[in-house]
Amino acid sequence: MTTSTNRSVEGRDVKTAYARWAPIYEFIATPTVPARKIAAKRVNAIGGRFLEAGVGSGSALPLYGDNVDLVGVDLSHDMLKIARGRVDAGLKNVEAILEMDLMNLAFADASFDGVVCMFTITAVPDAAQVMREFARVVKPGGIVMIASHFEADKGPWQVTDRVLTPFAKRLGWNPSMPIDGVMETPGLVLESREELPPVGLITLLNFRRTA
Ligand SMILES: C[S@@+](CC[C@H](N)C(=O)[O-])C[C@H]1O[C@@H](n2cnc3c(N)ncnc32)[C@H](O)[C@@H]1O
Repeated sequence: MTTSTNRSVEGRDVKTAYARWAPIYEFIATPTVPARKIAAKRVNAIGGRFLEAGVGSGSALPLYGDNVDLVGVDLSHDMLKIARGRVDAGLKNVEAILEMDLMNLAFADASFDGVVCMFTITAVPDAAQVMREFARVVKPGGIVMIASHFEADKGPWQVTDRVLTPFAKRLGWNPSMPIDGVMETPGLVLESREELPPVGLITLLNFRRTA
């Protein structure tokens, strides 16, 4: 397996997996709430038109400020239904919620000031291809922000990764994708790398699109 592929999680498996997860996703994902808040704060500090790639149930949407215009995309109809419910309940800064594959984004080049992608890059079949799409749709000088759990090289998370990895297809993500898979994208330069809580579980990567 190359470092950026998650062959066990093809699109149709993702749809099936997240149809199952949707009703309980936010409960299961409770440990990721603090990291999502920090990432949203970073987005708010920049502002502008942002793509939330893999918006899921839209749990981050209420965290964005009025200075951010959002387009949310995801492959899972069931997750998007929850996100749309949130928007309809009164989120004014969400421009659109669209069913779309991150492997092939239906946006023109340089459409966004930034891309934020949380807990999703390890769920796509080819992370390098998705990173190339992010680099394409963000404006020169714009930000691509990735928050995810990547393969742990020690400690209890390494044990957890090893136990969960055989179930990647059913889970809908690869628990042990190496971080190298997102580090080398033409046109993107890594500006910062931050470890987010819970300790050792989540990494926030900030890339900037070169001119
Ligand atoms: C673990 S959830 C994360 C959702 C949200 N970002 C959050 O922080 O709660 C992963 C999401 O990625 C979506 N996804 C996986 N592969 C995708 C693809 N190729 N294109 C678009 N969305 C995809 C799934 O449908 C799911 O909603």
